[in-house]
This record gives sequence, structure tokens and C-alpha cells, in this order.
Amino acid sequence: MTDRFRSVAVAAARDAGGLLRERLDRPREVGFKGTVDLVTDADRASEALIAGRIQEAFPEHRLLGEEGARGALAEDDGSDGEGDATGGFGWLVDPLDGTTNYAHGYPHFAVSIALEQAGTLLLGVVYDPMRNELFVAERGRGATRNGEPIHVSGTEDLIRAVLTTGFSYDLARRAVQAPVWRAFLTRVQGIRQTGSAALNLCYVAAGRLDGYWEGPLQPWDTGAGALLVEEAGGRVSDLRGGSFRPYGREILASNGALHGAMLAVLAASTAKSGEALSVVPD
Ligand code: IPD
Ligand code: CA
Ligand code: CA
Repeated sequence: MTDRFRSVAVAAARDAGGLLRERLDRPREVGFKGTVDLVTDADRASEALIAGRIQEAFPEHRLLGEEGARGALAEDDGSDGEGDATGGFGWLVDPLDGTTNYAHGYPHFAVSIALEQAGTLLLGVVYDPMRNELFVAERGRGATRNGEPIHVSGTEDLIRAVLTTGFSYDLARRAVQAPVWRAFLTRVQGIRQTGSAALNLCYVAAGRLDGYWEGPLQPWDTGAGALLVEEAGGRVSDLRGGSFRPYGREILASNGALHGAMLAVLAASTAKSGEALSVVPD
């Protein structure tokens, strides 16, 4: 069965990614979900394709898509599924992670699809159509890039590390995120802001980046990539070192060796500002 989950998710991610790539240079409709939070016709087309495939193959499963696609019992976030028809299975779909990049024609974005059962991530698939890179992780079976095993970096010191983060669509929240970014900036080799949470996590898994922190985020941003990092030998947690939860709203991902040092910077900078990074404003 797990092979079927993987093959349906991989085919959907590849086809949706192809659709995004094809439309990148065409004129597109851009709508606003907030002041700077965009949605394009491509997000919606990609989600319709992916949700259609998953619902056709697994009509009894829960599904949560960023642009509104919902499957059976979608509001049931991570229950054990005992006694209901879902078997506890839930899909998390980001049809286009990196929408701001995409809307500007900046070619760094991906499709992200995860499967969890009763809150435990089982499968993560991320596809970057511009580089034709397919990242797949299955619990207990390791993580791959285009079929080859990947592993986190061996970087042990923050000053040798290249980290990444992202900033909220809520402008007031960015004012809380900025001092944390600044605290890291003076302690590391470099910081990137790539615009795609899913690819950030894949890059930590592949050893291209050493660590990533961000909050607030959504379940569809992190589900697939979190499993990729774990299966590539890295560590994921919340921003205080507690367990990562697929329906939680934040993530710290690292190669493992840097996790403690990153937690220390996060603790010191948020204690200074007195505000938790991922508190979600009303
Ligand atoms: C966003 C990207 C970005 C992150 C934001 C996400 P979207 O997702 O992953 O890197 O900083 O927090 O919302 O809107 O492009 O799917
Ligand atoms: Ca996203
Ligand atoms: Ca998205």
C-alpha cells in the first residue's frame, strides 16, 4: 500500500510541477489573499490536479490543500482515525510553494505533498520542476533526490553554517521575525531567504543548507520537508526544541549537530523581544 501512496503522490507532483513550469512565462491572474499574500491561477490549477488525483485514488482519506481543497473529514487534524473510514490518513498539499517567486517569474518554487497517519508523517514528496529535482522520503526508508539517497551536512559550528528562514505575509509579524534574523546574521557564515519553505527543508535534507527556522507556517508548508530532513539524518522540532507536529505552526530543522546552537539563538533573541516568533495574530 505504501508503494501506491508514493506512486500516486509522485505522479501528481510531477504533473502539477509540469503545469507550473509550462505556465511560468505566460500572463497570469494574480489575486490577493492579504496585503502581500498572493494566489495565482496556477496555484489553483495545480491544486485541482493534485486533489483530483488523490481523491480519486483514496476517496476515504482526509485532505488539506492550501487553496481550499478538502477531502473526507478534513477538519479532523491528526486524530487516530479509529472507528472512522479515513484509517487516520491525511494528505497535506501545497500546490505551489513559493508563490511570490512564481508571480514574479523567479524560478524557485515547488509542489509539496505529504501523507500523515494519526499525526505521524509517513510520506513526503517535493518536486522542483525548474531543476527537475524530485525529493521523496518514506518513514523508515530514507530520503532521496531523483532516486539517490541524500544526507544532511556535517557542519558543526554556526560560523561555518549557511542557514535559511522566511518571513510572514503578516507585516506586523515580520517586525517580530526581524530581530531573530538579525541575531543569527551576526553568528553564521550566511543566511538565505529563498521564498520556498518546502525547498528549504529539502536543501537541509540534501546538505545544501545547514539549518532552517520559521514560524508561523502552515501544515502544507512543512509536512513533506520535515520527513525529508528526518529521513536524511537531520532533526526537526518546534522553535523551543519540543517535538515537531505536522499541524503545528512552526519548525526548526537542522543537520542535528547545529540544533542546540540554533535553539540557543532562538531562545536568546525571542527572550529579548519578549515575543514568541510564531504567535499567530488574530
Ligand atoms: C510561503 C513560502 C515562504 C514562507 C512563507 C510561506 P507559499 O508559502 O514557503 O518561503 O516564508 O511562510 O507561506 O505562500 O509560497 O505557498
Ligand atoms: Ca507554502
Ligand atoms: Ca502555496
